[in-house]
Amino acid sequence: MSAEQPVRPPRRAVCPGSFDPVTHGHLDIIERTAQLFDEVVVAVGTNMSKNALFTPPERVEMLTEAVRRWEGVTVTQFSGLLVDFCAAHDISAIVKGLRFVSDFDHELQMAQMNKKLTGVDTVFLPTAAQWSYVSSSLVREVATLGGSVDQFLPPEIAARTTQRVRRRAAERP
Ligand code: PNS
Repeated sequence: MSAEQPVRPPRRAVCPGSFDPVTHGHLDIIERTAQLFDEVVVAVGTNMSKNALFTPPERVEMLTEAVRRWEGVTVTQFSGLLVDFCAAHDISAIVKGLRFVSDFDHELQMAQMNKKLTGVDTVFLPTAAQWSYVSSSLVREVATLGGSVDQFLPPEIAARTTQRVRRRAAERP
C-alpha cells in the first residue's frame, strides 16, 4: 500500500500595481513569481490618478496579452484594500519588486500594515538589474517628450503608449 500524499491547496500570490503601462521590469517580476507559486493573480489597481495614460480595463487587456505565455497567471482589476482582495481570492502572499533601497521604505511600511490588517505576508523580489531604472512614470515621460520607449515595453504596448501620448498632445488646447 502506498503512503497517501497530503493534499495541499495551491499557493496563490498577487502581483499588484498600477501597470500604466506594464514594463519589462514588471513582467520579469511576474514571471519569477509564477516560478515560485502555483498561481499568480496580477491585480491592476483602479484608483485612477489624473495623469493616468490608460484606463484600468485597457491595462488589464494589455497585461492579459503580455502574460499569456505563462501558465497559472491571470489578470484582473481591483479596488479597495489589497488585503481584502487577497482574502476574497485565497491569496497568501503579496509579491513586490524592489528597484532601489528607497523603494524599500514605503514598501516595508505597506507590508507591515498589510500583515497587521489580515496577516497576509509580502515577499520582495529584487528587480532584475537590467530593468532597475525603468518605471512606468519615466516611460510615460519619455514617450510624452518624443523619446522611444521600445526597449522598455513589449512591442504592442510600446506602440499603444506612443500612439496614446501623441493623441493626448494633439487634444491639448
Ligand atoms: O504600481 P503602484 O502604483 O506602486 O501600485 C500601488 C498599489 C496599487 C499596489 C497600491 O497602491 C495598493 O496596494 N493599493 C491598494 C490600496 C491599499 O490596500 N492601501 C493600503 C496599503 S497598506
